[in-house]
Amino acid sequence: MDKINFFPKNLNIQNQKVILRLDLNVPVKDKVIQDDTRIALCLPFINKLIEKKAKIIIISHLGRPQGIKVPELSLIPIYKHLKKSLQANVYFFMGSFDEEVQDKFSHLKGGEIILLENIRYFKEEGADEENFSKKLGSLGDIYINDAFSCCHRKQASIHNITKFVKNSYAGPLLKKEIDSINLVIQNKKEPVTCIIGGSKISTKINVITNLIKKVNNLIIVGAMANNFFIYKNFKVGKSLFEENTNKIIKEIYEKAKKNKCEILIPEDCLVGTSFSGRGKNKNLDKIENNEIILDIGPKTIKSIEYKIDQSNTVLWNGPAGYFENENFMNGTISIAKAISKNTIEKSLISILGGGDTLAAVNKSKNKLSFTHLSTAGGAFLEYLEGKDLPGLSVLK
Ligand code: 3PG
Ligand code: MG
Repeated sequence: MDKINFFPKNLNIQNQKVILRLDLNVPVKDKVIQDDTRIALCLPFINKLIEKKAKIIIISHLGRPQGIKVPELSLIPIYKHLKKSLQANVYFFMGSFDEEVQDKFSHLKGGEIILLENIRYFKEEGADEENFSKKLGSLGDIYINDAFSCCHRKQASIHNITKFVKNSYAGPLLKKEIDSINLVIQNKKEPVTCIIGGSKISTKINVITNLIKKVNNLIIVGAMANNFFIYKNFKVGKSLFEENTNKIIKEIYEKAKKNKCEILIPEDCLVGTSFSGRGKNKNLDKIENNEIILDIGPKTIKSIEYKIDQSNTVLWNGPAGYFENENFMNGTISIAKAISKNTIEKSLISILGGGDTLAAVNKSKNKLSFTHLSTAGGAFLEYLEGKDLPGLSVLK
């Protein structure tokens, strides 16, 4: 396999225009950043580039606006956060990439930064469009991708942009992610347990079917599990679920049987009548039409803790419930604590990944320890599957 081209520490980039693709996709509510982990992790490298007097052009996305300028998904709160955290001039660019853009960027001095507005405001980003990628590429002399969590996306600022810049590199955060995940893959010991949460099963179906071949236990939590409840003929009230997933789930069970992978789904849950309410514990067969499943219940937590105790490797992506409301974060926090305890006391090998998982774990009042905490969710799972991610293959 070709090697990834990592950014050489001693490269002279003084006064060179560096396009830096970061993942500043953090949870924002009413213009307030809810968890700044992803930004904080990016700061040391930005500071390195400032020190080296590079002209820094930062690209990131926020959410999935799909080509529409959704005001709630503006990067302005992130711009303000960067301005506060960095001792450098930081500018914000919200224009389009027309002929004059070069002009507009020409005032940028070494050690200064321009942050571009949400790149997914442009539909060409999602389409990995050539012409748009060319315009982005022409903004800089070199390109550095330090957004491992976006590398599974075939999008302009991750993929095709590299065709239009002379030198493309992977940044240090991306390197650290890959090195850590590789280390876990090489050293993983059975039993291996994979915990998958989140909401959409259709976006994770390939990952799940491929992981079944590689893990001993697969635990499904979060809204994803609702589809399994429906498959098992339970009613889920007003909970989130996806239409027509019975066929997919049937195949998952068949594959699991063939590969001797045990699938565990919740047996009880916390329900509420709104996302802002309080929880009531219920068995699966007692859910009423006006109720929403918002967390896993105590029996399920016990079963998951037991499985974690029995495992030598745990991989986890996606929270177990609606952790944004403290009444529904117990499931997620309990899983995090069980993994941390086993990592410390029994040398469990553990990786957690994903923006939501990070934000949820940070809500715990205890200090938790894991083998590796990844910023990536989808990318991390696809990398585990052994896939060649589009954003990485262009850096080789
Ligand atoms: C993430 O949070 O998963 C990354 O920022 C990538 O975002 P995406 O899943 O919307 O492509
Ligand atoms: Mg994602």
